[in-house]
Amino acid sequence: MLPADNLRHTKLPLNNGSGAIPALGFGTLIPDPAATRLATKAALEAGFRLIDTAERYRTEREVGEAMRDVFKEGKVKREDVVVVTKLWNTNHRPQRVKPAFEASLKKLQLDSVDVYLIHTPFAFRPGDEQDPRDANGAVIYDKGVTLLDTWGAMERLVDDGKCRAIGLSDVNLEQVKGIVDAARIKPAVVHVESHPYLPEWELVNYCKENGIVFQAFAALGHGSDPRLLDDPVVVAIAGRVGKTPAQVLLAWAIQRGTAPLTTSKTPGRIRENFDVSFIPEDGVREITEGIRLRVRFNAVVETGVPGFIPRGT
Ligand SMILES: NC(=O)c1ccc[n+]([C@@H]2O[C@H](COP(=O)([O-])OP(=O)(O)OC[C@H]3O[C@@H](n4cnc5c(N)ncnc54)[C@H](OP(=O)(O)O)[C@@H]3O)[C@@H](O)[C@H]2O)c1
Repeated sequence: MLPADNLRHTKLPLNNGSGAIPALGFGTLIPDPAATRLATKAALEAGFRLIDTAERYRTEREVGEAMRDVFKEGKVKREDVVVVTKLWNTNHRPQRVKPAFEASLKKLQLDSVDVYLIHTPFAFRPGDEQDPRDANGAVIYDKGVTLLDTWGAMERLVDDGKCRAIGLSDVNLEQVKGIVDAARIKPAVVHVESHPYLPEWELVNYCKENGIVFQAFAALGHGSDPRLLDDPVVVAIAGRVGKTPAQVLLAWAIQRGTAPLTTSKTPGRIRENFDVSFIPEDGVREITEGIRLRVRFNAVVETGVPGFIPRGT
């Protein structure tokens, strides 16, 4: 017998006592502004109640406009939507954190966000250039600030009541442990690439032990090769349970206790990705134990340079 099927409405508690956030989320890493606006609106209308954006994606303005429209139409209430955005690498100096956060609020047309993440653990040269490079094309890092310095400024945003929770993105286990051990306010969310080709079990288990929500991006493999959506194990389970490969991958992610993020510009796929229901436990096990291929699609964790954002934007 499968449990009552409300998988798509699964919520995961935040470890600072400020409520819970949906496991299933919609990401807005979409290069075209008009497409971002339409997709965000479609996602909210389809039922998604967690929207992920970032200063670096340059989609906060469009996400803000889409939310404003949907809220105005009375279809969804602001308090029912969890908004996640991120501090970019060029704003790691503590004195830059609050201004960057306030600039994000302004673009989003909000008074507060629910979750604010440090986008990557790499500090870049502070300034307006999001991708600072030297004459040889090498990234210019900022050696004058540590991740813990930045974290202290993030904690002060929670103190100010402007964001419910804070977290880390594109970090490894050691970096998460370093912040958890030293922080006054522990990270509530860790947001990294994860899917059956990169299950990150060690980090998932550490997050579970510490009550940290493990948010998984590229949950469908980012449309890259090798195509996770065409994986024979996933396709076979989808055929057996009468769901699509995307729905199977999202069910696997939620059933193993993580919070998957997907992106789509296509309204039909957006609805498909919200229509997630339980798959049998043997299907979950088959994916966990039967898929042995290991692939990281996004090298952002190695350099801080986002692999999925076209250079020059
Ligand atoms: N922190 C970070 O460094 C970081 C990095 C990357 C992403 N993220 C976040 O995570 C979110 C999700 O990551 P992602 O974009 O890699 O997600 P993804 O859902 O794994 O990949 C998106 C791709 O899959 C396609 N797709 C979506 N649903 C589909 C379906 N049902 N069937 C077939 N194809 C489908 C989309 O195509 P169409 O659009 O053409 O429909 C798009 O090409 C991002 O938007 C962003 O918010 C964070």
